[in-house]
Amino acid sequence: MALLIQGGEIVTAETRTRGDILIEGEKICAIGAGLEAPAGAEAIDATGKLVFPGFIDPHVHIHLPFMATFAKDTHATASRAALVGGTTTFIEMVCPSRSEDALAGYHVWKQKAEGNSACDYAFHMAVTRYDEGTEAQLREIVADGTASFKIFLSYKNFFGVTDEEMFRTLRLAAELGVITTAHCENAELVGQLQQLLLSEGKTGAEWHEPSRPETVEAEGTGRFATFLEATGATGYVVHLSCAPALRAAVEAKLRGVKLYVESVLPHFLLDKSYAERGGVEGMKYIMSPPLRHERNLPVLWTALQAGMIDAVGTDHCPFDQEQKRLGEQAFTQIPNGIPGIEDRVNLMYTYGVKRGRLDVHRFVDALSTRPAKIFGLFPRKGTIAVGSDADVVVYDPAYRGRISAARQLTNNDYNGFEGVAIEGRPAVVTVRGKVQAREGAFVGEAGRGRFLRRTPNGGAQGVE
Ligand code: URP
Ligand code: ZN
Ligand code: ZN
Repeated sequence: MALLIQGGEIVTAETRTRGDILIEGEKICAIGAGLEAPAGAEAIDATGKLVFPGFIDPHVHIHLPFMATFAKDTHATASRAALVGGTTTFIEMVCPSRSEDALAGYHVWKQKAEGNSACDYAFHMAVTRYDEGTEAQLREIVADGTASFKIFLSYKNFFGVTDEEMFRTLRLAAELGVITTAHCENAELVGQLQQLLLSEGKTGAEWHEPSRPETVEAEGTGRFATFLEATGATGYVVHLSCAPALRAAVEAKLRGVKLYVESVLPHFLLDKSYAERGGVEGMKYIMSPPLRHERNLPVLWTALQAGMIDAVGTDHCPFDQEQKRLGEQAFTQIPNGIPGIEDRVNLMYTYGVKRGRLDVHRFVDALSTRPAKIFGLFPRKGTIAVGSDADVVVYDPAYRGRISAARQLTNNDYNGFEGVAIEGRPAVVTVRGKVQAREGAFVGEAGRGRFLRRTPNGGAQGVE
């Protein structure tokens, strides 16, 4: 059925115009003023609303065996949560551990998503070991449409790679023209500091941040950049959390390293005092890199507005309170991760755009357009244009509410932003021309999401 979205303020990364959007089938087929609805079309009144391109979360974990347990969401629950929050595409990290077969892992992740996700999705393929069989497997995975890699410089002996493995991965990535995303922390330093703190009886969640201080992340970021420079590969730092790491990334950008930077929702709004709350209340806020000293938050906002931070993801990774308690005896055993896929758009809109920290076009750019460009989804995704997929968020800036775990669709028994006010919410969300969410409720077709095949884009060429 055709859809006509009428009279909204259409906001893209560059433009703002009042008008109508006509959707036929899965695509946007006309944009303008006073468009006629074809017979049988559903009209959606967007008067007083902002009309954004569907948002893209470039960094989520859904199926994730990690730290002796599994993240809680399924593709069905995470995708519904994404949609009510305005995210119409996510890119999930495929993370087989070092002892597992990469290609077999890739197929496990793909099968879990297929027919279960209600929104569209793609993958980043984690390289957690590089041996004689890896190159052929990665070529096959890229040929299948997964045109980005992920490496972890931390999580030694589980997801982590050695410097030699990072070098070999980046050489192949440069040859194939795919981008490599990286979790940048010095694994050796984290391991040593963890043992030191535990030996001093410092076992609580409040010691997680001191075990991986800002310098440890800055070193990882700088080393990743050095390896990019040496190999000519293009990189993307995931979940950058603090000023020293930002400095390392910007310094690399300035000397011409092809490097993009992502920060994630928790690091813009929460600081390390949340992890210092004691007991499970603190454990809820354990992620890596950790929540930082509050002095970093304004730095991240400024860098985001200036475009030094290119993209905003979530690092969505839900573990419930019982799972968090696995770390009651030692902070090193607390499953790392904070959920956010449902709340990223509303919180970044409220505390970014509404508070004057973030221009609305940069907001669209960082949460949709630039991820689409960097990861080879543009202009199919990430904009409102004739010929693009009809992924549209009709956004109500007059909505007022509060975040509550009791109402969330994410499969978890807490929300790290419990009680936080939001000033705006998606009123209607479409994926390829079908209404999938309305006013905080999933109203669409389960399992409708499609795997987005991507071709290597020369390492994000064309992104300004
Ligand atoms: O703490 C985090 N970030 N958990 C998920 C795994 C990762 O490092 O991305
Ligand atoms: Zn990570
Ligand atoms: Zn992650």
